[in-house]
Amino acid sequence: MTRTPFAPDRFWFGGDYNPEQWPREVWAQDVELMQRAGVNTATIGVFSWALLEPEEGRYDLGWLDDVVELLHAGGIGVVLATPTASPPPWFTAAHPDALPVLADGTRLWHGSRDTYCVCAPAYREASRSIARVLAERYGDHPALRAWHVHNEYGTYCWCDHVAAAFRVWLEDRYGTLDALNAAWWTTFWSQHYESWEQVVPPRATQYLHNPTQSVDFRRFFSDEMLDAYREQRAEIRAAGSSAPITTNFMLPTWNHLEQWSWSAELDVPSVDHYLDTTGPDGEAHVAYGSDLTRSWADGGPWLLMEQSMSSISTGGRITFKDPARAVRNSLGYVARGAQSSLFFQWRASAGGSEAWHGAMVPHAGADSATFRAVCELGSVLDSIAEVTRPPADGRLTSSEIAVWWHAEGWWALENRSLPSDHLTYPDAVRSVHRAAWHAGLEVDFTRPGADLSDYRVLLVPSMFALDDAAVRSLEEFVAGGGHVVVWPFSGIADENLHVVTGGYPGRLRDLVGLRVEHLAPLAADESVVLDDGSTGTVWSELVQPDDATVLRRYRGGDLDGSPAVTRAARGTGTVTYVSTHLDLTATRALLEDVAAAAGVAPVVADRPASVEVVRRRGAEHDYLFVLNHGERAACVTGPGVDLVAGGRTDDGVTVAAGGYLVLREDEDATWDVTTTG
Ligand code: GLA
Repeated sequence: MTRTPFAPDRFWFGGDYNPEQWPREVWAQDVELMQRAGVNTATIGVFSWALLEPEEGRYDLGWLDDVVELLHAGGIGVVLATPTASPPPWFTAAHPDALPVLADGTRLWHGSRDTYCVCAPAYREASRSIARVLAERYGDHPALRAWHVHNEYGTYCWCDHVAAAFRVWLEDRYGTLDALNAAWWTTFWSQHYESWEQVVPPRATQYLHNPTQSVDFRRFFSDEMLDAYREQRAEIRAAGSSAPITTNFMLPTWNHLEQWSWSAELDVPSVDHYLDTTGPDGEAHVAYGSDLTRSWADGGPWLLMEQSMSSISTGGRITFKDPARAVRNSLGYVARGAQSSLFFQWRASAGGSEAWHGAMVPHAGADSATFRAVCELGSVLDSIAEVTRPPADGRLTSSEIAVWWHAEGWWALENRSLPSDHLTYPDAVRSVHRAAWHAGLEVDFTRPGADLSDYRVLLVPSMFALDDAAVRSLEEFVAGGGHVVVWPFSGIADENLHVVTGGYPGRLRDLVGLRVEHLAPLAADESVVLDDGSTGTVWSELVQPDDATVLRRYRGGDLDGSPAVTRAARGTGTVTYVSTHLDLTATRALLEDVAAAAGVAPVVADRPASVEVVRRRGAEHDYLFVLNHGERAACVTGPGVDLVAGGRTDDGVTVAAGGYLVLREDEDATWDVTTTG
């Protein structure tokens, strides 16, 4: 697919705007406040289907025309959504077969959002129609910045429409029933299929599901939702609209889409990101979401479609987000490639299911610390507009460390028939990324099997199943002098989730230079100690080195004295194997050690722990973002220009506690970052 160019010359600032919830006099106030805050982008129509098409085939676009014209007259661009995440009541009444069905057979009712089955023909047809109508009406409107197709694809269904589509997908993947039976290992538990009609989605069943069937269902559903996206995209293009098209992924908890194949079909990947903790780890979480999305964007710019200005979701409770943090975190996304700072939502709803979600204009109104922070952010984004211009090679960082990421890795570890429920893919990946973040090392994520020539270090956290292409690329990377770190339960199985026998990790045994004979996963409250005093949780195993050297041993317990961390020399490269979930300090030290051996340095050496420093590459200059997450002021000294306050930084500038700096760097600048006070 040829991507429509995406090259805004300023940061998109604004968010989801739902004027239909308010009387028209509020609309005029909204535009006035948006202008005051420097908002330049409003995402409209995300959940407007019932008002845009009040009955089948009867459209009422007059109010949306007025909104678009009002925004346009106010100098505010529009990201126009197709509203297909929430079909209207008439649709449900006419097509009850298009309501989603849970794995246990319960058919859901209308009354929330996302009450549709993506495989239902009536839903697909209705989605194409509303996309076509909107594209014909607004496709060449000068206010249109981009299309936002749907919202957070990810609604599963287990109905008969889904079963039929699943069979078609399986026939395409396997060709024959024999191949399917072999891949699904159906000789076990009398699951052998004699006809395609016998195959069903992994619906609620008596005991454990077939793991390959479950992962295939996730693969299928991602592909099916991608088809639905493509259909809407085709309608938009057929109507002649040339604006960039995207759909918003959801992080961190959703894993319904295989983001690499999806991103290849988007003009620009976009993501909704909500912090999962109020604590300092939330700062590392900003980096995680950003590094992932930039990687899905091939290292280039991406859109932060939603975040929250003033709240953090913490297990059934909303916690107020400090306005200074909201600004700092927004710059954290930008530092790592975001081309926007967009929020859910502009004005806090007074009713409905999300009235208590944070907003740019809170219930208190514009006379609030939150809105003042919105204005500050708008002004900062304006001051740093030059940062948006990408370098000629399109790569916004110079990371030489890659982390393997794949949705299938996550899906594979969700099976409940594995040796431990405590080993989760998000935790495995997050712990590695978090350690790199603390070490100040830049990382990208990359797809197993993809070209690794930009990298010197590859990190492989718990990637259970590997196909031939992935194994080959790993071998070639190491043969070329690359340094690899492998965490437990990686390379155990092939792409059908079949264990490669003869000792774990069967697919990587020669590369890691060892053989694991038996696994010893730990209980939730158990830990192991290594001979350097570091601790491991979640996992342990009996490692028998072949030609790998032992770096650390287990101390005490059943594995006393046996190897815990090993390293195999491979030409000029190395392969380090970590057999447990090491604590943060030990993981960080390990990464620093491997990075140093590979000649990879952090962005700034010896910076205070609470000060994050990120470099974003630009067209003519590089830019340094300094984010002070700590409670003490910091001082930054080096050759550059402070883009926000103005003036040179050679003699040092202060970053207040909780504050930030954005600097245009002189060529080959080096920086000194310390805390003061
Ligand atoms: C998601 C949705 C929004 C809103 C926010 C906040 O990201 O896209 O519509 O529901 O979450 O909960």
